[in-house]
Amino acid sequence: MIPVPKHIQQLKPYVAGKTIEEVVAQYNPPRISKLASNENRLGCSQKANEAALKALPVIMNYPDPACTLLRQKISEKTGIPAERIMPGSGSEGVMQLIIKTFFEPHEHALTASATFIGFTVLINSRGVGLRQLPLTAGYRFDTAALADAITPDTRMVYIANPNNPTGTYITKTEFEAFMARVPEHVMVIMDEAYYEFAAGLDDYPDATRYDFDNLITLRTFSKAYGLAGYRIGYGLAHPEIIKTLMKVKLPFEPSLPAQYAAMGALEDDDFLRKTQHMVESGRNRLYRFLTEKEVTFVPSASNSVMMVFETEEQAAHFTEEMLKKGVILRRLPGFGLPNCVRVTVGLDAEMDHFEEAFEAVYESVNQS
Ligand SMILES: Cc1ncc(COP(=O)(O)O)c(C=O)c1O
Repeated sequence: MIPVPKHIQQLKPYVAGKTIEEVVAQYNPPRISKLASNENRLGCSQKANEAALKALPVIMNYPDPACTLLRQKISEKTGIPAERIMPGSGSEGVMQLIIKTFFEPHEHALTASATFIGFTVLINSRGVGLRQLPLTAGYRFDTAALADAITPDTRMVYIANPNNPTGTYITKTEFEAFMARVPEHVMVIMDEAYYEFAAGLDDYPDATRYDFDNLITLRTFSKAYGLAGYRIGYGLAHPEIIKTLMKVKLPFEPSLPAQYAAMGALEDDDFLRKTQHMVESGRNRLYRFLTEKEVTFVPSASNSVMMVFETEEQAAHFTEEMLKKGVILRRLPGFGLPNCVRVTVGLDAEMDHFEEAFEAVYESVNQS
């Protein structure tokens, strides 16, 4: 057999949320609400799908490697110059590119213990070091501890803001104090995959509004725009960083339909507003419900809410019983949070389903 490098042998396969087909095969519940993967339960804008279809007559051609039209469109929307924009196959695609590009073998990255697993997998598969620091007691990134932990070999600090799976965010004050302490040789990735759900908060730091040469902000079309299946996102950074990334990027990513879909999605502010409204009202409804049921939860700035159970057994039992009723939730042992369960905010009917199933199973959870 071909020898596999040790750092690759040590990787664990990605465990995704259960698919609808798996749940049907296992429990065959009368209806299913998939609230496990932070997808947009409203779907996506019709304009996105219509735009993607325009790629089909020219699908035999390779896409423009510079993604000129899409970068222009994002630039018009954000007011950020196109030379600062780096499209990729999902924001995770851009993350992969950054990690591929900027590390020397002896260097390492810093992040929190419970954050987007994609980042840790990419770092581990690159074979460089990773230090993960505990979250604060409130399940938040500890920016002071991250700044303290930086050494001459630290090349990157990754902060998801808002964070997944906790939904918490770092404030403007924390971000500014942190950046003031980060040396120039350290690249800071601010992953704003859930930006559109947090942007309205007064103390949320939109990282694209800061001018640091060592900062890259990630955004995605997968969440608020509902285009997860297309695989498209982008990074925003100093033009020199973008130029370097462009040299390493696979020339023909993202795919042409994905680029067109993203341009279509940017034409539909109504859809975005509807999504933001669904998430905000669904979150408030969940808060009310969980408070009434005396279940601990972490207030969220994203499209999911994390429930905190007293024990791992309760979290496991609750998730499995909800699954039997057709409500797919996400347990979080892989994030180092074995007693926590994440629920994605869905449509009213899905929230009804969540509440009904919850009422039916919760008593048995207390006894587990
Ligand atoms: C914090 C965070 N970053 C990035 C991603 C990946 O998003 P994309 O679909 O753009 O690759 C996710 C997806 O769950 C996420 O939660």
